[in-house]
Amino acid sequence: MKEYKIAALAGDGIGPEVMQEAIRVLRAVEKAFGLPFAITEAPVGWAGIDAAGKALPDATLALCKASDSILFGSVGLPDRDPTIPKEERPERAALLRIRKEFGLFANLRPVQLPKALSHACPLRPERQGDGIDVLVVRELTGGMYFGQPKKTETLSEGVQRAIDTMVYTTPEIERIAHVAFRAARLRRKKVTSIDKANVLENGILWREVVTRIGKQYPDVALEHMFVDNGAMQLMLRPTQFDVMLCENMFGDILSDEAAALAGSLGMLPSASLGTTSGEQTFGFYEPAGGTAPDIAGKNLANPIAQILSTSLLLRYSFGQNEAAAAIDRAVAEVIASGLRTGDIYSPADATARKVGTLEMGTAIAAAIRR
Ligand code: IPM
Ligand code: MG
Repeated sequence: MKEYKIAALAGDGIGPEVMQEAIRVLRAVEKAFGLPFAITEAPVGWAGIDAAGKALPDATLALCKASDSILFGSVGLPDRDPTIPKEERPERAALLRIRKEFGLFANLRPVQLPKALSHACPLRPERQGDGIDVLVVRELTGGMYFGQPKKTETLSEGVQRAIDTMVYTTPEIERIAHVAFRAARLRRKKVTSIDKANVLENGILWREVVTRIGKQYPDVALEHMFVDNGAMQLMLRPTQFDVMLCENMFGDILSDEAAALAGSLGMLPSASLGTTSGEQTFGFYEPAGGTAPDIAGKNLANPIAQILSTSLLLRYSFGQNEAAAAIDRAVAEVIASGLRTGDIYSPADATARKVGTLEMGTAIAAAIRR
């Protein structure tokens, strides 16, 4: 049987401790399903700078290239060494570099609020309806993040000018639109496309192209929404959304907003996908949250986002839907049993028991079965 090669890059902050739990769960899946995983760990982020002088060490990049998919933790510690130039800092030199290098243009961020965590949602229960379940599909390699020119220049003594360029081409919009419509077909068959067509040229083109691609998916309902209204609607009536299709910057912002609805960033996995070859899609899987330096190394972090990222990995990169479902089920079971890390704990819930990163991961691994 073919081995599945996974590069595990834990990174900084809470990355290493949540990664350890995700690997524990993968090992349990390996046993239960007889899937051969070749998991190789390598440093990235500040850990890469410390180990090899670079946020993305050459050996780590080589490992990624030799792997079928990347399981990523998180990188970036805002308080570390402000003298290192921005181009060499982990956010740009590791994360954005990997996105571009591997052509990971489609970022999927599923936001779900389990009933048992209703208390952790900032919205009143009546606004939560029968539960919140939104998939943010974010374009990840275009727009303002990568557009050129991108620079800060000095106009005159004491006057500088910063320039970022928002740019999209038709093919870039087409391919992410296809991802959104295909994802909607597997869900509630609705796409809300987000843009700023009332102000931006990019918004006008985005809307035109998405509308045209939408005609190929007559079974999927398409609506368009300005981004400012989208931000508001997420707070007022999040249950109206199924798939939200966004360009890079809007998707960055709205996915954090949507994440807040799920009670904690610690619950949210994400998948970044490139093109498919044969049966496999090269993918990059990471928790939507950051390095959380304030709680790092204290056995306080919620490992569920990292663990659910392995479920997305098995599903999207390897087509192992049953194994992925086993992980989702194990997480749901453990939550239903009352185990809670601090971020999702409520003393008002009499059945809840507060646990650390290690205990949460161990319980989920123990709940994996075929
Ligand atoms: C995200 C993060 C990154 C982004 C940062 C860390 C560069 O916020 O993955 O959403 O803006 O894309
Ligand atoms: Mg973000």
